Amino acid sequence: MTNNSIAETGQQYIMNTYGRFPISLVRGKGTYVWDADNKQYLDFVGGIAACSLGHSNENLIQVLTEQAKTLWHVSNLYWIEPQVQLAEKLTAATGMDKAFFCNSGAEANEAAIKLARKYFYGQNQSNKNEIITFKNSFHGRTLATVTATGQTKYQKGFAPLAPGFVYADYNDLPSVEAAVNENTAAILVEVIQGEGGVIPADISFLRGLRQLCDQNELLLIIDEVQTGVGRTGKFLACQLYGIKPDIVTLAKGLGGGIPIGACLAVDKVAAAFEPGNHASTFGGNPLVTAVACKVTEIVSKEGFLKQVEKMGDYLGEKLLALKDPRIVQFRSRGLIQGLEFEREVKDLVGICMKKGLLLVNAGPNVLRFVPPLTVNEIEINGAAAILKQALQEWE
Ligand SMILES: Cc1ncc(COP(=O)(O)O)c(C=O)c1O
Repeated sequence: MTNNSIAETGQQYIMNTYGRFPISLVRGKGTYVWDADNKQYLDFVGGIAACSLGHSNENLIQVLTEQAKTLWHVSNLYWIEPQVQLAEKLTAATGMDKAFFCNSGAEANEAAIKLARKYFYGQNQSNKNEIITFKNSFHGRTLATVTATGQTKYQKGFAPLAPGFVYADYNDLPSVEAAVNENTAAILVEVIQGEGGVIPADISFLRGLRQLCDQNELLLIIDEVQTGVGRTGKFLACQLYGIKPDIVTLAKGLGGGIPIGACLAVDKVAAAFEPGNHASTFGGNPLVTAVACKVTEIVSKEGFLKQVEKMGDYLGEKLLALKDPRIVQFRSRGLIQGLEFEREVKDLVGICMKKGLLLVNAGPNVLRFVPPLTVNEIEINGAAAILKQALQEWE
């Protein structure tokens, strides 16, 4: 099939929930992908920060095919060996004590929200069920997580929303202090607002949240769905800030492109979940956890994380060197980077695509760069050269 025929058939049979470009990617290797008409692209979207080790990574292919020949799926009625191994690796990499596995970022946040409420319910404080989240945040599309998401554009048309969420201003500690009351259970926060425009938390803000939680006996839930698993040059972005959450959620990069989510918690909090409280048929199944184990093993290595930092610096230099007068601000942590322009970047993304570079926006005015963590200097040079040409054509 060609790009056109796939798009036409898709329009006929697929629900219209995504604004899609008229191409279909059919093959990938490393940082490159090819469409159905065999056009090659440098992929700086990486499945939106999911393809952490690039496309068709040899290590992951090997693990996936071995596991596929052994056991695909069994129920969580039984212990699942790769799931147990993954939990051991993730708790070591994050300083958390226990894991719950699911299939996406939204589900990981659902688990975190339920766990926080159950924790206080178990202490006869069921009034403590409110979660403070932030304006401009993004936590998912299920009814609870879209309510947690502090952006009305994602919520419109889906009322009634889930009760128990209040919104404070990001990077504004007094606004959070003002929102805390006797019903507050937890604060749910992204270390970098990814979908919101690649906006990092200030160090004093994040440390202030930790302190506020300690002083008021609240739980700090950090959503690392986009920033976790090495994206920032640390296994968790909050490790850049020296902060330890009570609950942390992961997804995207954890599976290297295989659908998985994880909710990790410290023992005291994790103990609130008892058999029957929460579950997922496919959560943590052998196929996905075998792959995620390999991803975690590779990404946790000090040398790998140092290289992410190095490539992040290199990409940052290239982007800063563009010096386009329409750039308002550059923001970055490792290999999650954003160039904010004075106007919408949609057309610029389209021009880059035509020239063979895939990028994604983060909010209307921000060009986001979330390539595979395995990206190299040659690929970064290639992307910067295309972007430079595209900027010249962008009117
Ligand atoms: C910070 C954050 N949380 C949650 C989600 C939702 O993840 P998923 O699309 O896997 O449900 C996203 C997705 O972009 C995200 O960036």
